[in-house]
Amino acid sequence: MSTQSTPERKRITTHQLQEMKQRGEKIAMLTAYDYSMARIIDRAGIDVVLVGDSASNVMAGNETTLPITLDQMIYHATGVVKAVKRALVVVDIPFGYYQGSSGEALRSSIRIMKESGAHAVKLEGGSEVKDSVLRILSAGVPVMGHLGLMPQSIYKFGTYNVRAREESEAAKLIEDAKLLEECGCFALVLEKIPAALAEKVAAMLRIPVIGIGAGSVDGQVLVMQDMLGITQEFNPRFLRRYADLNAVVTSAVGKYITDVKASNFPGPEEKY
Ligand code: KIV
Repeated sequence: MSTQSTPERKRITTHQLQEMKQRGEKIAMLTAYDYSMARIIDRAGIDVVLVGDSASNVMAGNETTLPITLDQMIYHATGVVKAVKRALVVVDIPFGYYQGSSGEALRSSIRIMKESGAHAVKLEGGSEVKDSVLRILSAGVPVMGHLGLMPQSIYKFGTYNVRAREESEAAKLIEDAKLLEECGCFALVLEKIPAALAEKVAAMLRIPVIGIGAGSVDGQVLVMQDMLGITQEFNPRFLRRYADLNAVVTSAVGKYITDVKASNFPGPEEKY
């Protein structure tokens, strides 16, 4: 009888992410919003899957992340969790479901964890959301912070420009980053801030800092539809496109239409 066993695909934990930082191993994170894509990126070896509220833009076609609801986030997360065997799955708490009170933040987090089976939640903000972060953590739910460009506050700032270029905003960001670590967040996303500032924060903190347009920190995150070239209109400097799926899909659909119109599909071998 063979003693060989199938190698176990162990789940990445928040603790392991911190160990990765300690040994200088970079963390790769991508967004996913459905079962099929989540399955592909998990099998490809991604460390963290973020069910981002960017689903509001890329899946629902909204201009901002504000309209997406908690029920919709849970719907997306449920499909992702079913697919992902190895990565840690983090889910954004959407706008309007944690800012009101820490009790509301806890209830939203518990719904996400219970109904989708996700492993952690993410929320935007520093000192303003301290009570919510502490309350969620007190229930045993891991929290990822998010500072810098915070898309849920777009109407406060009015633009998606680089944040924290000014000294006062940079100083607040540093204080907020330290606060989130002290509260017990397991990781922090920094979005669209100067590389030097992000790298300083990453060097200051023990928890991993994951950047998007934030220089070379402990890990990187991109929105899947952007890095695969599905979205075309969004071209910030930080975005590297790893494929042109827009062209691939357009060409495949064009060929399909041609075949159907010319009665070339189905062929004899595609019929029962
Ligand atoms: O919602 C999202 O996709 C995010 C990433 C950009 C970090 O928050």
